Amino acid sequence: MRFGLFFFILFAISCTYNELTPIPVCNSDNPSFSICIKPIIDNNCVSCHSSSVHGDLTDYASIKQYIDSEELLDRIQRDENEVGFMPLGGSRLNQQQIDLLIKWKNNGAPNN
Ligand code: HEC
Repeated sequence: MRFGLFFFILFAISCTYNELTPIPVCNSDNPSFSICIKPIIDNNCVSCHSSSVHGDLTDYASIKQYIDSEELLDRIQRDENEVGFMPLGGSRLNQQQIDLLIKWKNNGAPNN
């Protein structure tokens, strides 16, 4: 009877775990566009870059274009008070975010 209860609890716990939606984890060796890159751009850039006026950064193709041209990485690595610094009027992305963007570019900026 004790064993029965033990297995029932084990079963119940494993069911609960199975129902949890896995949280996507950003792998810094192979940064995924959708998990790592897009959220950085969405949260820091798209408020101003949602049209072609200052450069569209809303989708993979446009982000890749600015990554390939080096323009994006150049702008985010300038000093905060340097002309052309991005995000304009904001504070520098943290080093981890900058490193992810560099790594993604070096991996060929895949749409993954
Ligand atoms: C507060 C508004 C604002 C935010 C936020 C912002 N930008 Fe900009 N961005 C601008 C404006 C205005 C320009 C045009 C002036 C210039 O080139 O410096 C620009 C220009 C650029 C350009 C050059 C576009 C071109 O076609 O020459 C790039 C690349 C860029 N931004 C990247 C970014 C990135 C990456 C982020 C987020 C980390 C970001 N920006 C956040 C306003 C913003």
